[in-house]
Amino acid sequence: MSTLHDIPVLGSGMGFRHQIKEQIFAAQEDIDFVEIITEQYLRNLLSIEKLEEVCDLFQVIPHGVGLSIGSAARPSATYLNRLKRISDITQAPYYSEHLCQTQAPGIDLGHLTPLWFTEETLAHTIDHVNLVQDTLGKPLVLENVTYKFEIPHFSMPQSEFFHRLVEATDCGVLLDLTNIFINATNHGYSAVEFMDAMPLDHVVQTHIAGGYWRNTQVVDSHSHPVQDETWELLTLLAQRIKIKGVILEHDDNFPDMPNLVSQINKARQIALSTEFSLRKC
Ligand SMILES: [Fe+2]
Repeated sequence: MSTLHDIPVLGSGMGFRHQIKEQIFAAQEDIDFVEIITEQYLRNLLSIEKLEEVCDLFQVIPHGVGLSIGSAARPSATYLNRLKRISDITQAPYYSEHLCQTQAPGIDLGHLTPLWFTEETLAHTIDHVNLVQDTLGKPLVLENVTYKFEIPHFSMPQSEFFHRLVEATDCGVLLDLTNIFINATNHGYSAVEFMDAMPLDHVVQTHIAGGYWRNTQVVDSHSHPVQDETWELLTLLAQRIKIKGVILEHDDNFPDMPNLVSQINKARQIALSTEFSLRKC
């Protein structure tokens, strides 16, 4: 069983998107690692051969969207075994997912739904994280998600939930800086104060992405260049911790590859240049 301490510095990369596969392959020298969406390979939308093709060129981190770690029900052994197969093929040092719920009994919510931050939710989430880590033999790294509203009558803030979860399981945190910016803007609080309240000593990777403004709200679209507010959070985070990896998420309205590469390079420079030089040569 590997631990968070075994995770190496991975550098600056991007979410692998099949629509721009050829462009990503051609930009290989500028991309330190990529993140794939696990479920695209579980559901046979894309074949295992296509995953192995990506693994031949890049260090791949599998990033899931269907684990539903905060549901009351445990993930099934069948589902976990399928995750393990993908995880093993990538030889990734960790497996990442979202701190959210996507399933209720008999229902696929079809959305990364925020959790109700209660003692009961914490207890079964701890149980599920331990189960996943034991099955995969590597750390689970969980991402903070955006939300339209907070579920009322919670018993602890999200940051405390994260603290207690990582202390109980030694799982990692995937800090999505754009999600912090969007939530803070849309719900009227300080992004920096939220970031500082999180268990930063357990952060192993970050996400950056670009949304767009609709009146006074920011839409979490992954369709635009990374906004200044997110770059500022990345700069501040790099002053606080040793960041091991940054992934640029871009899912729609794809620009040309030099545009994406320039953002990957900027992230590398901000997050990693003080101590590390990971450019391939
Ligand atoms: Fe993200």
